[in-house]
Amino acid sequence: MQQENMGVRLLLFPLPLQGHAIPMFHLANLLQKKGFLITIVQTRYNSPDPNNFPLFTFHFLEDGLPANATPAPNDYSTVLSVLNTNCLTPFYNCLSQILCKAAKDQEPIACLIADPMWSFAGSVSSRLKLPRITLRSTSMSAYFVYHSLPSLRDKGYYPLQETKFDELVPELPPLKVKDLPPEAGQDLLADTVKETNTSQGIIWNTFEELEDAYITRVRQVLSIPIFPIGPIHKYSQQSPVNIWAQDQTSISWLNKQAPHSVLYVSFGSIAAVSKADFIEIARGLANSKQAFLWVVRHGLIEGSNENNPLPLPNGYLDMIGQRGHIVNWAPQQEVLAHPAVGGFWTHCGWNSIMESISEGVPMLCLPCFADQTMNMRHVCDNWKIGLQLEKGLKSEEIERAVKKLLVEEEGAALRNRIKALKEKATLSLKEGGSSYKSLEDLTNYLLSL
Ligand code: UDX
Repeated sequence: MQQENMGVRLLLFPLPLQGHAIPMFHLANLLQKKGFLITIVQTRYNSPDPNNFPLFTFHFLEDGLPANATPAPNDYSTVLSVLNTNCLTPFYNCLSQILCKAAKDQEPIACLIADPMWSFAGSVSSRLKLPRITLRSTSMSAYFVYHSLPSLRDKGYYPLQETKFDELVPELPPLKVKDLPPEAGQDLLADTVKETNTSQGIIWNTFEELEDAYITRVRQVLSIPIFPIGPIHKYSQQSPVNIWAQDQTSISWLNKQAPHSVLYVSFGSIAAVSKADFIEIARGLANSKQAFLWVVRHGLIEGSNENNPLPLPNGYLDMIGQRGHIVNWAPQQEVLAHPAVGGFWTHCGWNSIMESISEGVPMLCLPCFADQTMNMRHVCDNWKIGLQLEKGLKSEEIERAVKKLLVEEEGAALRNRIKALKEKATLSLKEGGSSYKSLEDLTNYLLSL
């Protein structure tokens, strides 16, 4: 711990979606260890229990959504828009009070660290003359694509043409035209790029050795400092960031499996699949005859609700017996670190990819939306640590892909490559490593604000 930081406070403002809040809380743990005092400003909706973080101070915003509405509804863009409307005034009032009290107590506050999907964090912090840093929970390459959208439009990539879908985008290797963000939703992307670019620094959950080319390009286009400090969840063995209850039978079940024999299947906190795809996945997993741990959270199946039984084929659970285990929500980081896990079927959310790389687990990739398609392309075509699957696929193709990943030579080659990347990730966090140095730079920068 760096004692000289004691007494300097940071205000953190996470977005209440798992893929965003989890890295923000890892960052909070990390900066607290560096000696900063941590205040979290959070919604009542879908946020962690403060009792799990006794070292932090919490302030709640009245967000107008039901506090217990977990899991987050699949229509996350509606949730975001409601939160961005409802939280503006409560956030301004909350920050004003915190700053007033700090001035009275003569307690220094270095800055606000906010998620760039809060559309008002920039305007509120500049009104209150509080420096602001951004934490981005997506990859450097995805950000670069979002940043480049105006020039991609000028170059004629939009509207996207289906006849060109399989062509490479030479400006953004190894992306193909079909990987580019669709037109719908680009206003939201433009807002987050603006929030990012107008901040006084950007923290990234990535590391130099993974994304060096895009890190260099981002440094060329931005004049603010950037801090790639990832993998952000690996700095300490501190308890995980539980927002939803994690089913610990995941671990007791894994304890009974052979090394590298299990496929872990999870599509993150928001993505959904059709009922037809769900049934094909269930069949493919069963027919592969490989062991699997499958996260089927509420909302995973489009149009279903908590009261609907899972649409599993007749006699499914008897058929898979002890070979498969289905849970609602798993302790994912622990699962991926477990020696029994040999592969990860993921939707390619950025946190999942960083967690998989950190444990050297090769992937099957079924991207659903947002940055996931671009992430998949890097996983499969750039780093070559995963195999691509397409939506609408049949159980036979799933069966083949699962076997390829877990028991065939192609999977072994992917495993070797991701193990080498894991080594690089581990080294980057050690003294003298790139993320270690970046974290030191960040600490000094926060103290200079
Ligand atoms: C969202 C976006 O959808 C994603 O595209 C973006 O890159 C980040 O924000 P999400 O879809 O939830 O995230 O996926 P991901 O980024 O993988 O984050 C999920 C988090 O939940 C991970 O930290 C993972 O460890 C955790 N998780 C997931 C669990 O703890 N248990 C589970 O059962 C599943």
